[in-house]
Amino acid sequence: MHSFSQLFFLVTLLTTLATAAPHQKKNLAKRSFHVPLSVRNEKFERNGAAAMARAMGKYNMGPYARNRNGVPDMVTGAMTVSEDIQRPNMTINAAGGGDGKTQAVPANQGAEFLSAVMIGGQMMTMDFDTGSSDLWVFSSEQPKQQTNQHTVYTPTKSQSFNRMQGASWKIAYGDGSGAQGFVGTDEVNIGGATVTNQAVEVATSVAASFTKDTMNGGLVGLAFSNLNTVKPNPQKTFFDNAMDNLDMPVFAANLKNDNTGTYQFGNVDSSQFQGDLAFTDVDSSSGFWQIKSTKFAVNGKVTQNPKAAPAIADTGTSLLLVDDNVASAYYGNVKGAKVNNQAGGFTYPCNADLPDFSVAMGDDYMATVPGDQITFAQVDRNTCFGGVQSNMGAGIQIYGDTMFKTQYIVFNGQNKSLGMAPKVGQPPAMKV
Ligand SMILES: *[C@@H]1O[C@H](CO)[C@@H](O)[C@H](O)[C@H]1NC(C)=O
Ligand SMILES: *[C@@H]1O[C@H](CO)[C@@H](O)[C@H](O)[C@H]1NC(C)=O
Repeated sequence: MHSFSQLFFLVTLLTTLATAAPHQKKNLAKRSFHVPLSVRNEKFERNGAAAMARAMGKYNMGPYARNRNGVPDMVTGAMTVSEDIQRPNMTINAAGGGDGKTQAVPANQGAEFLSAVMIGGQMMTMDFDTGSSDLWVFSSEQPKQQTNQHTVYTPTKSQSFNRMQGASWKIAYGDGSGAQGFVGTDEVNIGGATVTNQAVEVATSVAASFTKDTMNGGLVGLAFSNLNTVKPNPQKTFFDNAMDNLDMPVFAANLKNDNTGTYQFGNVDSSQFQGDLAFTDVDSSSGFWQIKSTKFAVNGKVTQNPKAAPAIADTGTSLLLVDDNVASAYYGNVKGAKVNNQAGGFTYPCNADLPDFSVAMGDDYMATVPGDQITFAQVDRNTCFGGVQSNMGAGIQIYGDTMFKTQYIVFNGQNKSLGMAPKVGQPPAMKV
């Protein structure tokens, strides 16, 4: 069924790798480069509850929020949605009710975009994640049952790998999943540009949720380096290392609905978006690409939301997670919408008429997701799971792929800003 896109991916991949010879010059000439095609992982059925759980786990929120003892308030099975939150004009489903299928909640199922990365001459397919800062890979150092069906990086087969003595890394998610291992440096080549001494975090153990995701060979973290988990000395991200040698200190995420997409480093492609990019300041103190988002709109009708939590731009999250009052306000306009505990979030009849939804990104720009692009997954024959969901009071809004698919987003690492514009084919930018 997806043979064309897969073939195209393969051809493009081979072309990239052919031009990306491992023994190229050690110094990067000032340049820009394209990662020609990222492909959405289609091996997994889209699963709203799983996508929700994955985000909640990543950010230790919702049922995974840490209680005072630092222990996740984890509830096994379906998500619990607090019922004392005001959800105006909505039906709230009692726990255990609902019309969705009961879903197990593995942490790592859901749509993601993967791209080709060469490490020490070995090709890996990896997830570019602007919501984390570690570059870690599946490796030959893990137990075989974890790496079944995965492409692994074998440090001993790399001429350029150097072990970093005493260094280790560990990422623990609130849902109990995580990954850990040792660290070395190697040549990392993305789209033809090489960083010679990139810290590569070699997994010795990963949680089952990662193992199940057989197409994913690891993560390329593109948040700020202060979130890097390497001990004793945190390491720089690929982008931080490459930035000074790029034409422009930027990378751009251009994720598309049709399962294709592009990351571009060092330049922007103005043929891909409408008008000029609108830039807004990023607060990087949290380590994330964090911006203000104190307005939202439903069908163009703007609501001021001065107490809104800050928002982060995260390509590694499938959904658009907004403050609970925002999600409730949106679904208050969708006939039949409700919090469906079994499905793990807001659902509605698939034939519902969905209004457009816009979120502010900084003071002067609003990103619009048209109504017909809101749905993330179908839960059963008549029930759909929204790509817009509540952050369950987490204190941070997470703008993931539901938003990215409609917007061209530029990450500027030098002046720490985000540049945004609607993609070609999307509704024009809202005047605010
Ligand atoms: C950051 O740099 C971009 C150019 O890449 C520029 O257009 C933008 O105005 C700058 N933004 C800020 C907040 O300084
Ligand atoms: C809910 O209904 C009340 C009264 O019918 C209305 O004033 C309010 O604006 C509605 N809220 C939302 C979020 O639609």
